[in-house]
Amino acid sequence: MEPIQVKHPLIEHKLAILRDKRTGTKEFRELISEITLFLCYEAMKDANLHEVEIETPLTKTKAKMLNEKEYVFVPILRAGTGMIEGIVTMIPNAKIGHIGLYRNEETLKPVRYYYKMPKGIENKKVIIIDPMLATGGSGVDAVTLLKEDGVKDIKFLSIIAAPEGLKKMKETHPDVQIYCAAIDDHLNDVGYIVPGLGDAGDRIFGTV
Ligand code: PRP
Ligand code: URA
Repeated sequence: MEPIQVKHPLIEHKLAILRDKRTGTKEFRELISEITLFLCYEAMKDANLHEVEIETPLTKTKAKMLNEKEYVFVPILRAGTGMIEGIVTMIPNAKIGHIGLYRNEETLKPVRYYYKMPKGIENKKVIIIDPMLATGGSGVDAVTLLKEDGVKDIKFLSIIAAPEGLKKMKETHPDVQIYCAAIDDHLNDVGYIVPGLGDAGDRIFGTV
């Protein structure tokens, strides 16, 4: 599947501040949440609704509501957790699973250290969240783990994606729809996205 780049002047504006090296931790976290709202909005465009009857101050009427509990959002630790706030602002009852992966800085390969999903994950619509899709190693590995658990419906939200990571995901998991706010130019020789924003986890958690 081709990636969907969510384009909007407000996203462009927020991305500019996010990328700026002078932006501090507080503002960086807030921007990650705000951009996540836009990505979530777009990714939920095909969501299932069910009909309910409600009563307005004037009359009874039929309305439509989201099946919130059908969705499980899965941040890839650590940086993905920075996107949870934006998700739960939109979908307060969403269930959250966690996958712990970090990149071995020499091999750039993802190393798994944590995996915990809500019960019945195989029947849920799963949306993985991670601000960066660089080589694609972590993202692809996260999808593989979920598929091994029987998950059939997977989307992936990232704030910045590199062409290399998009290609790897498309080749390995062509059924996964990626939503991103930017597709950057390339990876440098240590696997960082250029121009990028640096190390997302370090900037979210102030561990620079
Ligand atoms: C970052 C990022 C992704 C991964 C992307 O995490 O949040 O998970 O790198 O790189 P890849 O596409 O080449 O796998 P990192 O490993 O730095 O861990 P952290 O979130 O704990 O900082
Ligand atoms: N992970 C990050 O946090 N930033 C990059 O540029 C690449 C991987």
